[in-house]
Amino acid sequence: MKDFNYYAPTEVVFGQESEEQVAALVKKYGGTKVLVHYGGQSAVRSGLLDKLCRLLKEGGVPYVCLGGVVPNPRLSLAHQGIELCRKEGVDFILAVGGGSVIDSAKCIAYGVCLEGEVWDLYLGKAEPSAMLPVACVLTIPAAGSEMSEASVITNEDGDVKLGYSNNLARPKFAIMNPCRTFTLPPYQTAAGVTDMMMHTMERYFTKDDDMDLTTDLAEAVLRRMKTAVFDVLKNPEDYRQRAQIMWGGSVAHNGLTGCGVHDDWATHQLEHELSGMFDVTHGAGLAAVWPSWARYVMHENLSRFVRFAVNVMDVPNDFSDPEGTALKGIEAMERFYHAIGMPTTIKELIGREITDAEIKEMTRKCSQDGARKIGALKVLKAEDMEAIYQMAK
Ligand code: NZQ
Ligand code: ZN
Repeated sequence: MKDFNYYAPTEVVFGQESEEQVAALVKKYGGTKVLVHYGGQSAVRSGLLDKLCRLLKEGGVPYVCLGGVVPNPRLSLAHQGIELCRKEGVDFILAVGGGSVIDSAKCIAYGVCLEGEVWDLYLGKAEPSAMLPVACVLTIPAAGSEMSEASVITNEDGDVKLGYSNNLARPKFAIMNPCRTFTLPPYQTAAGVTDMMMHTMERYFTKDDDMDLTTDLAEAVLRRMKTAVFDVLKNPEDYRQRAQIMWGGSVAHNGLTGCGVHDDWATHQLEHELSGMFDVTHGAGLAAVWPSWARYVMHENLSRFVRFAVNVMDVPNDFSDPEGTALKGIEAMERFYHAIGMPTTIKELIGREITDAEIKEMTRKCSQDGARKIGALKVLKAEDMEAIYQMAK
C-alpha cells in the first residue's frame, strides 16, 4: 500500500446561511484588505456579489473588486490582479465563482508575493515561499479547487494551459451554498459532475488494489454523483441533490479518494491540451477523451475496470469474459455521458473533425516535445498520447 499524507486544511462552511459568515471568516484568517475576484456575469446577475460586498462593508472589511475571469482563466488578468493587489495593499483574496475564478485568485496570490514572473511557477522554473491567503464562495461544483492545492492557468501567448500544485494554495475557507448552484445551465451542471467524477476516477484507476476503504469511498462518490445529476437536470432547484453534488465535488478532489493509491491524471493532461487549444469546457473535454484512454489502458489492471463496470455502472459480471465486462462498463459510461449531454469524442466536443496536424500539435505540447510522460496506470509516451487522441477523434 502506498504511504500517504492527507492534508485538507480548508474550513468548509456549508448551507443556505453560509454566506452570512463571510466577513467574520475573512477576519478569522487575517484578512484586512480584500480583493473580491469574480467571473463574467453570473455572480453579478444573481446578486451574490452585491450581497458579499455589503456583508464585508458591514463587517468593517475594506475591499476592492476585480471581475472578468473567463473559463480557462487567462494569465493576463492574473497580471492585472497582481498589480491591483500591490497598489491597493490587498492581503487576502476572496474568489467568488468556480474553478476558473479560484485558480485565477491563486495565481494572483502567488504573484503578489513573488519577485519574478508568476508563470515561471507553472513552467516549473520557480518555487514560491509564500502567497496571500485565498478563500472562496463557490458557485459551481466541478473543479474542486475550493479545497485543492492546484491551479490551472492559460497563457494566451501560445495557448498553453498549465497547472501548478502547492499546499500553500489550499483555500483557507470555502463557503458553499447549494442554492447558488440553482442557476447553473444544464451543460455546466453536467460538465461539473463529469469533472468531479473524473477527479475520483483518476485516483480509482490504479494498480494499487489494497486500500479497500479508498476504493469503497470512490465508488460511493461515483454512484451518488451519477444519480444526483439526473435529479438536478430534471429539477434544477432540488436543494437536496444540489447539496450532494456540491459536497461531492469537494470530496472528489480534496485527496480523500486518493489515500493509499498512485493516482493517474493522464486524462486530465490530455484534456488540458483540448481546452488550451479549443477553449472548450474542461469537464466536456474529459468526457471526450476518457473512453479512448480507458480502452487503451484497461489491460494494465483489467480487474479494476471489471469492478468499475459492475460496482459503478451496474453491468452484470460475466465471469467467463472479464474483458467483455470491462468494455461494457466503458460503453455504459459513454451512454451516461450522452444522457447528460456530454460528448464522447473530440468531434462531438468541438463540432468538427480534428485534423491530424492539430493532434500532432496537442501531442507535442502534452509531451513537451517528447520530454514528458504522463499517467501512472500506464505511463504514456508521446506516441501513446497521439494514439489516444486518434482513437478519440
Ligand atoms: O463567468 P460566469 O458568468 O460566472 O459564468 C460561469 C462560467 O461561464 C458559470 N457559472 C459559475 N457559477 C454559476 C455559473 N452560471 C450560472 N450560475 C452559477 N451559479 O459557469 C461557467 C464555468 O465556470 P468555471 O469556473 O470555468 O467552471 P469550473 O469550476 O468547471 O472550472 C474550470 C476550470 O478549473 C480548472 C479547469 O481546467 C478549468 O480551467 N481545473 C482546476 C482544478 C483545480 N484547481 O484543482 C482541477 C480541475 O481538474 C480543473 O483542471
Ligand atoms: Zn478536472
